[in-house]
Amino acid sequence: MSDEKKLILSGIQPTGTFTLGNYIGAVRNWGPLQDECRCFYFIADQHAITVKIEPAQLRQKTLEAYAQLMACGIDLNKSLIFIQSHVPTHAQLSWVLNCSTQFGELSRMTQFKDKSRKHPDDINAGLFDYPVLMAADILIYNADLVPVGVDQMQHLELARTIARRFNGRYGETFKIPEGYVPPVGAKVMSLQEPTKKMSKSDDNPNAVILILDDKDTIIRKFKRAVTDSESEIAFREGKDGINNLLTIYSAVTGRTIEESVREFDGQGYGTFKLAVGEAVADHLAPVREEYARLIADKAYLKECYTRCAGEALRYSYRTLNKVYKKVGFVPTELR
Ligand code: AMP
Ligand code: TRP
Repeated sequence: MSDEKKLILSGIQPTGTFTLGNYIGAVRNWGPLQDECRCFYFIADQHAITVKIEPAQLRQKTLEAYAQLMACGIDLNKSLIFIQSHVPTHAQLSWVLNCSTQFGELSRMTQFKDKSRKHPDDINAGLFDYPVLMAADILIYNADLVPVGVDQMQHLELARTIARRFNGRYGETFKIPEGYVPPVGAKVMSLQEPTKKMSKSDDNPNAVILILDDKDTIIRKFKRAVTDSESEIAFREGKDGINNLLTIYSAVTGRTIEESVREFDGQGYGTFKLAVGEAVADHLAPVREEYARLIADKAYLKECYTRCAGEALRYSYRTLNKVYKKVGFVPTELR
């Protein structure tokens, strides 16, 4: 890895299985980035405890998220995937950054307000401070680009503000990170309400394809997909269900929308839905198999996350030491 390459960094909360939307819209586009950029991905287990989660469940979900990222094409010879709590420099930096963050700024974060409303019995300090840990996650690596969904843009903006403030007070230290919307990445809609985004928090399981669903489940969900009362397979306004199926079909087969429309010219919705289901199931089969292999091999997973955390730690110490020096902490040989 050369130093001129841009550094991409992103964190993923271990909240469950990726959906076809996460996969087509985000994760599968990360693999091809690995040749142009150095990519660091981590499972944000420290962020996950800001809301109540059973310890056994957190452990399990963290490993599952790790294995899913690997199965989706992130190559550990080119990129790093690590577990946040294995790299203590994030939390160490976040303490220093806390002292360059205003109470008022954190009070204005919409995610904090939403989550406080949702969990009124547990508005803990970690939930409030979450964006500062996120800023530390990013700034500790001097990341150039941070792929995040729109809901995280406010946190990214705060990270930029904190970095500028620190640089202003102590001298140039942090690179100012940019948000990053990766190329391609179609938006995948719910199979039941095709005007709504496919989301893992949907209450209706038929609305969502999970990347680890088996073939029968995938086909069943596509057969039930909501379409319209016409019978023409065409991509146009008002045909949200069919548009979504065409988008998905094109994304997994690599064909254009026009090619897909031509392929199904004159066919019924039933045949089309089955074909989409089969194409998605075939496309996801290798991901599912690779995931099953990885999740069963805990020793190999451990080897991977341990090596990656070691590399991330060594890299991040450079920034932490610089920061500690700038703020006036007495140097020590211990780090
Ligand atoms: P989330 O699951 O909302 O935290 O999103 C993680 C990533 O997946 C973000 O980059 C989102 O933009 C992307 N993503 C989530 N749902 C979809 C969807 N239905 N279609 C396309 N991209 C999505
Ligand atoms: N807060 C992000 C989310 O909920 C996850 C995250 C934590 C993150 N630290 C990050 C994303 C650093 C990008 C960079 O989706």
